[in-house]
Amino acid sequence: MFALYSLSVERFSPCLIYVVQLVSRFYCFMPCLYHCVSLRGVFSAATVEQFEQAKSRLSTLKNDPGNEVKLKIYALFKQATQGPCNTPKPGMLDFVNKVKWDAWKSLGSISQDKARQQYCDLVGSLVAAEGGSSAQVAAQPAGSEATYETLLVTTEDNITTIKLNRPTKKNAITTEMYNDIVAALEQAAKDDSVLTVFTGAGDFYCSGNDLSNFTKIPEGGVELMAKQAGDLLRNYVNAYIDFPKPLVAVVNGPAVGIAVTALGLFDLVYATEKATFHTPFSQLGQSPEACSSYTFPKIMGVAKASEMLLFNKKLTATQACELGLVTEVFPESSFQMEVWSRLKAYAKLPPNSLALSKQLIRSTEKDRLHAVNDAEVERLVERWTSDECFNAIMSFFQAKSKL
Ligand code: COA
Repeated sequence: MFALYSLSVERFSPCLIYVVQLVSRFYCFMPCLYHCVSLRGVFSAATVEQFEQAKSRLSTLKNDPGNEVKLKIYALFKQATQGPCNTPKPGMLDFVNKVKWDAWKSLGSISQDKARQQYCDLVGSLVAAEGGSSAQVAAQPAGSEATYETLLVTTEDNITTIKLNRPTKKNAITTEMYNDIVAALEQAAKDDSVLTVFTGAGDFYCSGNDLSNFTKIPEGGVELMAKQAGDLLRNYVNAYIDFPKPLVAVVNGPAVGIAVTALGLFDLVYATEKATFHTPFSQLGQSPEACSSYTFPKIMGVAKASEMLLFNKKLTATQACELGLVTEVFPESSFQMEVWSRLKAYAKLPPNSLALSKQLIRSTEKDRLHAVNDAEVERLVERWTSDECFNAIMSFFQAKSKL
């Protein structure tokens, strides 16, 4: 049996180890779950065929794809066959069912068609990775829209929208999501859209880096984990620095950590009045990222930037607007309507003029931003191996496990 993560378990609380063991045991019984729902009469004949093919090819895999992937497969299967999860959330101590429920719930309201297609795509990619042909199981993406597990990427009215779609975890960004966002930005840079918009599903904009990213220690140990995380972060922030078209944040709720710091690289930031902006780096034994050590003092002055970046001051939307981090604040009741009607009008402006003007505004800063990004990453790689950071992250999960 494969362990849940490559955890160096001796560094974790007994409670966490217990969860890992329980979840590992759960996965021993996963294969039978893939086949537990009859699909007859639910789908059109062609799709049933693809889906059935994907199910049978899944059992031919030679290598265990890992528990995270298996959880995704489970969740997609449930969504494809039963629709969005609306069963009650299992209790805190029912670890196994809670993990399953979380995975299913995190798919939000994506349609059964889309879930079925993602299931086929995922199985197809696993088969292909083992040298088989994915053609028999991969379904065609709808239109030109790429599909991601926890991002909803759509293009409409000349606007490409990248929506973080992990509402049960307050849209915390996993390692996979960092890579997917970079891919989505690369795609948006090339497509026909005029504006690119970031927003979040549910009541949060984003709770920042998923702190469980730090619990996935590879065989090379914490140093390797920190180096890999550093490479990922550098790449992620570079994708914003180099993005050629106007980038807009539609901040639909509270924002934490990198979701806040990256705002200094956006061209417009619209926030609902219920949004808050919090960068608790020193609380977590970490240091600023996404060029905020440069953009924040420039936007709001050193004194106010230090209050946020050193002393964890959480800003209301109005305060963030007064300091220049947010462009405009809207009442919650009319937020979506007002913001989107404005963005749709902006997206009718001449695209080349918009992109070239943005590039002029940013071009003088580009080299400096890349240098700041490198320096911040170097500092963070050191921070992630520190006891201060390790203890802070353990406290977060221990506090959660005591609830
Ligand atoms: N990393 C990992 N898990 C996170 C997370 C994060 N950044 N943010 C939220 N979650 C998870 C919670 O653990 C919880 O999971 P559970 O339902 O399995 O217990 C779920 O998302 C909902 O969060 P919860 O804490 O119950 O909601 P809340 O409204 O009480 O608080 C936050 C929301 C964002 C204020 C709180 O979760 C938090 O402080 N998260 C950490 C934020 C952070 O430090 N980010 C990194 C900055 S550098």
